[in-house]
Amino acid sequence: MGPGHVRSLDLEEDAKAGDAVESGDRSNRHVRPARPEDREGMARVHVETWKTTYRGIVPDEHLDRLTVESDLRRGFGSWLGAPPPEVAAFVAEAREPGVVGFAVGGPNRDEDLRFTGELGAIYVLKEHQGRGLGRELVSHVARHLLDHGHTSMLCWVLEANTSRGFYERLGGKVVRREVRPAAGTRLPEVAYGWDDLSRLLSR
Ligand SMILES: CC(C)(COP(=O)(O)OP(=O)(O)OC[C@H]1O[C@@H](n2cnc3c(N)ncnc32)[C@H](O)[C@@H]1OP(=O)(O)O)[C@@H](O)C(=O)NCCC(=O)NCCS
Repeated sequence: MGPGHVRSLDLEEDAKAGDAVESGDRSNRHVRPARPEDREGMARVHVETWKTTYRGIVPDEHLDRLTVESDLRRGFGSWLGAPPPEVAAFVAEAREPGVVGFAVGGPNRDEDLRFTGELGAIYVLKEHQGRGLGRELVSHVARHLLDHGHTSMLCWVLEANTSRGFYERLGGKVVRREVRPAAGTRLPEVAYGWDDLSRLLSR
């Protein structure tokens, strides 16, 4: 997961975002900029979603070792208070249990002239998937990247991860294939690219 950065959207934006996801939905799900105090909630989403998504894709021993405590000990989210330039994190929140998803975006960590922005991480708890939160999180990252002059974006995903369908649904095209370090081993990954972020926002 890439480093993150808190960038406060204005209140009006928040309110709109609050209404955007299934307005009237009792659980009041909405997306907002992440705050340092969201660290533990984000780590819980990270750990639980890795276990529900990657069983059979990454080594069992890696998944079994993942805990919220080990994530926090390794500094997960410690950057939320003082982030690197142009990096932002957003959380999806529900009345219960609080943080149910998050995404991080910023400059592409690989030198890449074609895709200067990157969606570094996105996770939504299994029981909250399929309700538009993923799309809303990506929209927040895309708006943030556009605000910082990035009109294109890349995102790496494990080749065997069925969430690839999500990126394709949002108009992403496969632009790279590489075997990369992941989960303590090396696994085949593909990168989805968006040449024009404003088009992603209008989908
Ligand atoms: C991938 C993920 C972030 C998507 O978030 P989500 O909240 O479930 O997605 P949304 O409800 O916003 O879906 C947006 C659209 O994508 C489609 N979609 C979502 N997941 C999909 C999938 N796996 N395959 C095909 N289409 C998918 C939805 O049907 C929806 O289509 P619509 O606009 O026609 O209604 C979420 O499922 C997740 O966290 N998965 C596990 C972790 C993971 O793989 N993260 C990415 C690591 S690279």
